[in-house]
Amino acid sequence: MRANNKKKKLSIIGAGAVGTAAAQWAVSKSVADTIVLLDVVEGLPQGKALDLMQTSPLHGFTAAVVGTNDYADTANSDVIIITAGLARRPGMSRDDLLGKNVQIIREVTEEVARYSPDACLVVVTNPIDAMVYTVFKVSGFPKQHVVGMAGVLDSARYRTFIAQALDVAPSDVTAPVMGIHGDNMLPLVRLASVGGVPIEMLLSREKIKEIVHRTQCGGAEIVGYLKTGSAFSTPGLAAVEMAQSILRDERRVLPCAVYLEGEFGISGIFLGVPVVLGENGVERILEFPLSHEEQEALDRSVKAVERQVAATGL
Ligand code: LAC
Repeated sequence: MRANNKKKKLSIIGAGAVGTAAAQWAVSKSVADTIVLLDVVEGLPQGKALDLMQTSPLHGFTAAVVGTNDYADTANSDVIIITAGLARRPGMSRDDLLGKNVQIIREVTEEVARYSPDACLVVVTNPIDAMVYTVFKVSGFPKQHVVGMAGVLDSARYRTFIAQALDVAPSDVTAPVMGIHGDNMLPLVRLASVGGVPIEMLLSREKIKEIVHRTQCGGAEIVGYLKTGSAFSTPGLAAVEMAQSILRDERRVLPCAVYLEGEFGISGIFLGVPVVLGENGVERILEFPLSHEEQEALDRSVKAVERQVAATGL
C-alpha cells in the first residue's frame, strides 16, 4: 500500500534498451507521478519520453513522462534506477564491461547524488555486484538506500523454466536465487516450490540440474540470440518491481544485491540475498541457515564478487 499521498518521482538513468523498457513498465504500472528518463545522447530521452507520454490517452495513465539530458530534472527523486553503461555482446562476460562501466557509473552517481540526496538507488548496470558497490562508495549514501537488481531477474528466469517443466502458472512458482549475477549464482533448489510443494518432489534431479544451469546462463542465452545486446524486457520490469515496492512501501520480499555486514557470514561486499523492500529502501535482510552445499556455492559467489570489486579500484 502507498504509505502516504505525497507525489512520487522516479528517475531512470540511461535510455538504452533496459532504461527504455523500465520507463515503459513504470508508465504502464503507474508507479510514480513523475517519471524522468535521462541520457547523455541529445534527443534520445526526449523522443522516447514524448512517445511514451502519447500512450497516455490509450493506456489511461496520468503520470508525467519527462525526457532530458540535464540531471537537474531528476532533482528530488524518490527512487532512481541506474541503467547507464555498455551491455554485453556475444562472447563477452559481464566482467568484460567493468572498466568502461565503472567510469560511467562514477559520473552518474555523482550527479544523481547531488540532486537527490535522499533517493533510493536501484542499480542495474553490469557487472552488477561491482557497479552497485561503486554507487555505494561514490554516493556515500546509507546502505539501505543502495540496492542492486539481479536476483529478481534471475529468479524470474528460474521460475519461468520451472513453470514450463511442470506446465503450471509461472506466478505460482516460488524460486529464490542468491549470490552473484553470474555463472556462480545460486538458484536455491531446496527452497523452490510450486504452490508450496517443493520442486524436488515433482521434478527429477536431472531436470532440476538442467533448469539450474539454464538459469545461471540465462543472460548469455539471450545475448547469443540477440548478438547486438542483452536482455531488456525482464531486466527493466525487475528494476521497476523493486522501485515500486519502495515507492509504495509494499514490503515485497525480493532477492536483491545489498551491502552485507556479517549476514550469511559475509562482510564488505554487495551480494544477492532475500530482502524486504519498503519506503526506507532495504528494510530488512532475511537471514536463514544455509546447507553446507549452499554455503559452499555462496562462497564461490563471494570470491567472484571480491575479484570484481578489486578491479573497480575503489
Ligand atoms: C542478463 C544481463 C542483463 O542477465 O545481465 O540478461
